[in-house]
Amino acid sequence: MQLLGTREPEIYGKETLEGLHERLAERARELGATVEAHQSNHEGVLLDKIGAARGVFDGLLLNGAALTHTSLALFDAIKAVGIPCVEVHLSNPEAREAYRHESKLAPACIAKVSGFGGDSYLLALEGLLRWLGRRAATE
Ligand code: DQA
Repeated sequence: MQLLGTREPEIYGKETLEGLHERLAERARELGATVEAHQSNHEGVLLDKIGAARGVFDGLLLNGAALTHTSLALFDAIKAVGIPCVEVHLSNPEAREAYRHESKLAPACIAKVSGFGGDSYLLALEGLLRWLGRRAATE
């Protein structure tokens, strides 16, 4: 994901990860929220981050990239912390190769937003905040 901007731009667009994270932070400010963005190529680092999220973050937006399709460990980590998580993708994996059709993460997530390029992240943030607002209203 750190190669966004130059990585298969016909699929993932030309926006860099840094630019996308800035746009997400800006949208969060507009919505009265804050986001902390992290990128790692190492599954264990992601597991550590998710594992330490309880009590720190109200929700998670997770683009697991290729790990989406393989990682039982990420599935378990999301379940274990019990924090609402939205699966996010730039592309629409279900419309691509068959090996991208299965998500190991989806059953642990409250929702998924995919196929809108970088806007998937912004839409996922808005959906997550609405979900949190609805939950707070029923508590
Ligand atoms: C991706 C989709 C995955 O299938 C792929 O492995 C990625 C990016 C996306 O954002 O579209 O690395 O998560």
